[in-house]
Amino acid sequence: MPPRPLLHVDRLEKQFIRRRLLRAPVVTRAVDDVSFDIRGGESFGLVGESGSGKTTAARCILRLTRPTSGDVRFDGESIYTMSRARLRTLRRAMQPVFQDPYSSLDPRRTVQQSVTEPLVVHEVGTRESRRARVAELLNLVGLDPAYGARKPHELSGGQRQRIALARALALGPRLLVLDEPVSALDASVAAQIVNLLLRLRQDLNLALLFITHDLRLVRHLTTRVAVMRAGRIVESASTLALFASPHHPYTHELLSAAGLWKERLADPDLAHAGPRADSGVGDDRVLPLREVTPAHWARV
Ligand SMILES: Nc1ncnc2c1ncn2[C@@H]1O[C@H](COP(=O)(O)OP(=O)(O)OP(=O)(O)O)[C@@H](O)[C@H]1O
Ligand SMILES: [Mg+2]
Repeated sequence: MPPRPLLHVDRLEKQFIRRRLLRAPVVTRAVDDVSFDIRGGESFGLVGESGSGKTTAARCILRLTRPTSGDVRFDGESIYTMSRARLRTLRRAMQPVFQDPYSSLDPRRTVQQSVTEPLVVHEVGTRESRRARVAELLNLVGLDPAYGARKPHELSGGQRQRIALARALALGPRLLVLDEPVSALDASVAAQIVNLLLRLRQDLNLALLFITHDLRLVRHLTTRVAVMRAGRIVESASTLALFASPHHPYTHELLSAAGLWKERLADPDLAHAGPRADSGVGDDRVLPLREVTPAHWARV
């Protein structure tokens, strides 16, 4: 038996229903039958274009919203039926990091206060030990502890995202759910943050759910990846396999658009991996995920 995954997402579904006067309601299937596992210490990428349901899935996983159906288990336990005490533990073990740290950091508070807050809320340590912990956390994210005295407006975008990470790490989580954590940053700053995430994952044995529309970041940071389109996973595989031989036309499209595929078409050994060009979203609703090669799944 393989070890139990840290996070198990099981046939997750989230519909938004917009009611209209005297007309049929409009149903958006934001997340539609999404399943995947993340093992402890693993870095998993969720990619897809705008509106494909990535944030909605993340919000369900973080228990910020209830799914219409399906389940999310953390360390084997459903997060929707947990006791309050267990939920408190879950809040420590699974931490979100969002795109815009400016909105997640209180502008009136110093860095020291913001990073201390989760420790205070969860009643961890004494005043002195918390102060030492904050210095340690700032070091961990590559900032001089002297930054503790600053306020968010005195920091660059990259520094703010480092602070958001320090805050997320304060309680020693096992999983970070990162929703487009670097898309608001310049490419070079984004690369620094991604490298920091790589290092943190290794040093702290952190699992990452990394959500992005940027395939280059996924290739750099993750070991497995799922591609979402219109609420559904259309392909999932090891990152190596997905980039070497995408099977779903939509994955192919994404890779081509990012300039990560075209060069391969010239290689006759890889050209066979080119998928059919005629598949639309309709097919994804009908076709099940099929294991095209071991541990590589696609709706083809
Ligand atoms: N609160 C809501 N009420 C109604 N519809 C919603 C709500 N939140 C999301 N949606 C819809 O659900 C779908 C998925 O949205 P979601 O934000 O999850 O996509 P995304 O993949 O995160 O996109 P982006 O890359 O732009 O962040 C979209 O059609 C969106 O309009
Ligand atoms: Mg989103």
